[in-house]
Amino acid sequence: MRKINFFDTTLRDGEQSAGVNLNSQEKMEIAKQLEKLGVDVMEAGFPASSSLDFQSVKNIAKEIRGCSVTGLARSVKGDIDAAWEALKDGEEPRLHVFIATSPIHRLHKLKKTPEQVIQTAVDSVKYAAKTFPFIQWSAEDACRTELPFLAEIVGEVIKAGAKVINLPDTVGYNHPKEYGEIFRYIRENVPGAENVILSAHCHDDLGMATSNSLAAIENGAGQIEGTINGIGERAGNAALEEIAVALHTRSDFYNARSGLQLNEIKKTSEMVSKLTGMVIPGNKAVVGNNAFAHESGIHQDGVLKEKTTYEIITPELVGVASNSLVLGKHSGKHAFKNKLESLGYLLTEDELIKSFQSFKNLSEKKKEFTDEDLTAIVMEEKLSNGEAAYDLQSIQVQYGTNNITTATVSMLDQNKNLLNEAATGAGSVEAIYNTLERCIGEEIHLKDYRIQSNRSGRDAFAQVYVKIDFQGKEANGRGLAQDVLEASAKAYVNAVNRVLLLKQEQKEKTEVSI
Ligand code: KIV
Ligand code: ZN
Repeated sequence: MRKINFFDTTLRDGEQSAGVNLNSQEKMEIAKQLEKLGVDVMEAGFPASSSLDFQSVKNIAKEIRGCSVTGLARSVKGDIDAAWEALKDGEEPRLHVFIATSPIHRLHKLKKTPEQVIQTAVDSVKYAAKTFPFIQWSAEDACRTELPFLAEIVGEVIKAGAKVINLPDTVGYNHPKEYGEIFRYIRENVPGAENVILSAHCHDDLGMATSNSLAAIENGAGQIEGTINGIGERAGNAALEEIAVALHTRSDFYNARSGLQLNEIKKTSEMVSKLTGMVIPGNKAVVGNNAFAHESGIHQDGVLKEKTTYEIITPELVGVASNSLVLGKHSGKHAFKNKLESLGYLLTEDELIKSFQSFKNLSEKKKEFTDEDLTAIVMEEKLSNGEAAYDLQSIQVQYGTNNITTATVSMLDQNKNLLNEAATGAGSVEAIYNTLERCIGEEIHLKDYRIQSNRSGRDAFAQVYVKIDFQGKEANGRGLAQDVLEASAKAYVNAVNRVLLLKQEQKEKTEVSI
């Protein structure tokens, strides 16, 4: 069976999703989980885009050993140099360099003739080959490029040294038949195409990213690119978990397989969802909460008689936990540690102490902790900003249907001064946020607020996501608590702390956009 390489771009294209901004610690956590999942290539970022992205790609390249770490670069020397500096300590440094090839992009964005585009592409690959042992070249907007021109430029960059040729459907425009045709055309019309890996990179604007990626595989693609949960620009990228499970389930049809550890899918998906704040729809293929729920009587009856009547993939295949009750108030640190290890979390002593303390505090109010609860606690502690500027001490809310809602908040600032404030609001959350704004003493605009329970049941944790605009920066924040108002307050303070941390980390930053 043909092995298809899986190229994950959750940390680059995925991070380009509107409203997502991961800090370097969160990116590292995701990178480690992607390594466990078994991706072949991981695009850790776009090193030339900012000093923060540069540093985070560098850290990931140094740390990750199980796969090749790559970074994106435009076809300019500065980007390629930055990518080399960031990636050179990796196990297998790999450059991902691109240029747009379609007439629309050539004319309006690049303002280059077709010949100039070819020359720029060839020069960039030749320049990169002086340092990088492995180069992937991408034709941005390949799908809206004239096929003879696409074939010509692909032939030239292969001669220049590119080893992987990526043909993105940048705007999610193609029908699977058309997309597959492009791969067939390139294989049949480009001398040297047989010596490189052809790669698919699909966006989901028309909901066809997974089908298009599979069509590319049918037509000879040896690599597919995508993100976990399909996050990414606009409607997102192809969801890697969907393609991997499709190849597994329909291996009879595709005669191809991924190298992914399929039972790490659910955990990876939940981690990406938690850290990005991008909620997974219940009906999402493979990882949605309803993906294995049989609701109608006829279906339930069928599944009870024989699972395969309505179940083509099992929850176990993708690592859906049985969600057994595991720990309670009287569980000790040893049992806590063992359980976390069985869930795949290896904590440092400091992380363990903090997580266990948090578990103990929560167990004052909550009797039973499931795998999901423990995962939520650990993620929260692992990713709490160590030197947070503001530290929430307590909140109190007075609410009545006929009264004015009032909140009182105590909080420590960066110098450990205790701040006490009170304010009113139309509702409890508004009252809390007005009070926090007063404590912080600066304007904060709330751009988004979402609340979710981490599982079913009355005593489930509340997980709140907010997006704020503070000191000219947008940031999201997360808060986890038994109580929805406490989770709301935590998320708000977390977002403020993230802006302050980002500003502190951001010494000289040169933003560019793709
Ligand atoms: O969608 C796209 O074309 C891209 C390229 C930069 C590879 O993400
Ligand atoms: Zn893309």
